[in-house]
Amino acid sequence: MLRLITLVLSVFAFAPAALCIVSYDNDFVDPNYILSKSFNTSTAASQESIVQWADSLAAEGPWSVMNKSVNPPSGNKHDYLSWAPYWWPNCTGVGNTTELTPQQIWVTCPYYVRDGMFNPDGRLVDDVGNFSDMADAVLYNAMAWVLTGESKYSANTAYFVDTWFLNPATSMNPNLNFAQMQRGPGPSGQTGTHTGVLDLKGMVKVTTGILILRTANSPDWTSDFETQMNNWTTQYITWLQTSPIALEEAAATNNHGSYYFNQLSAVQILAGDTNGAKNTTATYFAGIYMNQIDASGEQPLEAVRTRPYHYRCYNLAAMITNARLGEFLGLDSLWNKTTTKGGTIKAALDFTMTVQPGDELASELYPNIAAVAANYGDPNDKYAAFLANADNTYPAQPYFLWDQPFTDSNLAAATPTANSQPTTTSNSHNGEFVSSHPSLMAASFMTLFLTCVLLVI
Ligand SMILES: *[C@@H]1O[C@H](CO)[C@@H](O)[C@H](O)[C@H]1NC(C)=O
Ligand SMILES: *[C@@H]1O[C@H](CO)[C@@H](O)[C@H](O)[C@H]1NC(C)=O
Ligand SMILES: *[C@@H]1O[C@H](CO)[C@@H](O)[C@H](O)[C@H]1NC(C)=O
Ligand SMILES: *[C@@H]1O[C@H](CO)[C@@H](O)[C@H](O)[C@H]1NC(C)=O
Ligand SMILES: *[C@@H]1O[C@H](CO)[C@@H](O)[C@H](O)[C@H]1NC(C)=O
Ligand SMILES: *[C@@H]1O[C@H](CO)[C@@H](O)[C@H](O)[C@H]1NC(C)=O
Ligand SMILES: *[C@@H]1O[C@H](CO)[C@@H](O)[C@H](O)[C@H]1NC(C)=O
Ligand SMILES: *[C@@H]1O[C@H](CO)[C@@H](O)[C@H](O)[C@H]1NC(C)=O
Repeated sequence: MLRLITLVLSVFAFAPAALCIVSYDNDFVDPNYILSKSFNTSTAASQESIVQWADSLAAEGPWSVMNKSVNPPSGNKHDYLSWAPYWWPNCTGVGNTTELTPQQIWVTCPYYVRDGMFNPDGRLVDDVGNFSDMADAVLYNAMAWVLTGESKYSANTAYFVDTWFLNPATSMNPNLNFAQMQRGPGPSGQTGTHTGVLDLKGMVKVTTGILILRTANSPDWTSDFETQMNNWTTQYITWLQTSPIALEEAAATNNHGSYYFNQLSAVQILAGDTNGAKNTTATYFAGIYMNQIDASGEQPLEAVRTRPYHYRCYNLAAMITNARLGEFLGLDSLWNKTTTKGGTIKAALDFTMTVQPGDELASELYPNIAAVAANYGDPNDKYAAFLANADNTYPAQPYFLWDQPFTDSNLAAATPTANSQPTTTSNSHNGEFVSSHPSLMAASFMTLFLTCVLLVI
């Protein structure tokens, strides 16, 4: 598929570079940095990309849990729903006499797992993809509002939040009781699974977007929205802290746990519970983080997974997001925190940079490189040289705006070559499955390609 995209791109050999929209694994951006508008001039191209991405995403919105064509077992479409991706029906023993409808199959036939085999009917329900796009739209439209001063962007941000979370006609109930749900009869069927909590990792991006509007007193972020969003987050925090499904995810020691903690901390910040958020982020760094990195920088819990390169990048993004949240909350020295075996976030990045991605997506690592370079410094230009070699459009990537200070390697004014790979980071809506399935991945790439914007840099 990459080859196909490169082929298609070469048709535009004389056109400006296409900078495709990708969904970064996760990130938290300090709203005060964006609102300060004291940006290095080298970030001009990244600012332009942010505005373009905001426009392209906004054209797809709004998004709502009501968009799905399938009801969750509760019968209430306001409940979030996604299906466990690798599970397939086995109807041989159910004794049916007539052909079963899909709806009958979903509840009657036992489901069994075929690891790595994505059941294509999962696409009938896409709350996870819609949430992910909504979160990116909220993030980039809030930033575009600051960058351009145009109120249509703050209006978009508020509209997308209102539609997904607040408007009684379209809102999502504050729970994930049916996320990555297994189908088939009970007791295992028709209930969500703990891995589904990861579906809402984008709450961190939503938080960044809302904080930008809230901190700057945007007239589009009304006191009604503020009150209702506090109500939503308060109920959702209770769910994250008490439901058995969420507590199982909280107990995960790998990337699932890392993402649980940054999601919870972010919504606590959103709800104004600063002490709770501090406790959450501190609990992560005093807890599972301590066993996530070896002295070599290897992440042993990710290295054992089916796609180890992806999972190393994925957990790095979560650790970095946790460190950023801690910095925002005023917690000291989390970036440099050393694990039980003597590893740090920087060591984990350095190690991953030495790993060959094979057929996994190399560019998933790039935002992490910029984040580490910006926070630890890059005295020997090691990180800059790696990125300049890997992706000569990197100063035009949105992450380059907030991963500062960091050099542009004099690339900001350069026109990327036509055969540079599309600047993909991670197209995974959910690191557990979406990017793992070749045909779905291909479909995602095509969608991404179609939403590419042409950008002069
Ligand atoms: C999804 O739902 C929202 C809210 O009802 C609606 O505005 C939007 O058009 C729907 N999108 C699609 C693709 O149906
Ligand atoms: C499907 O169900 C039948 C009968 O219930 C069972 O014998 C068979 O092993 C099942 N197949 C799979 C792949 O689970
Ligand atoms: C159910 O029964 C009918 C008739 O015996 C059969 O044709 C069909 O394949 C069965 N299975 C499903 C899933 O409908
Ligand atoms: C949003 O949901 C609709 C309906 O479920 C689906 O057709 C569409 O593909 C989803 N969009 C994304 C970007 O996931
Ligand atoms: C919060 O929202 C729920 C509906 O989700 C509503 O029943 C409740 O009255 C609201 N509470 C406040 C304080 O607005
Ligand atoms: C978080 O709060 C709990 C309960 O109040 C407390 O026992 C724990 O020590 C706190 N953890 C951290 C890391 O502050
Ligand atoms: C980490 O520690 C080193 C040495 O103490 C210091 O120079 C650096 O600024 C720290 N980095 C971060 C990100 O805190
Ligand atoms: C701005 O970026 C340029 C190019 O990367 C760099 O040389 C310069 O030191 C940066 N200025 C500041 C104030 O960070």
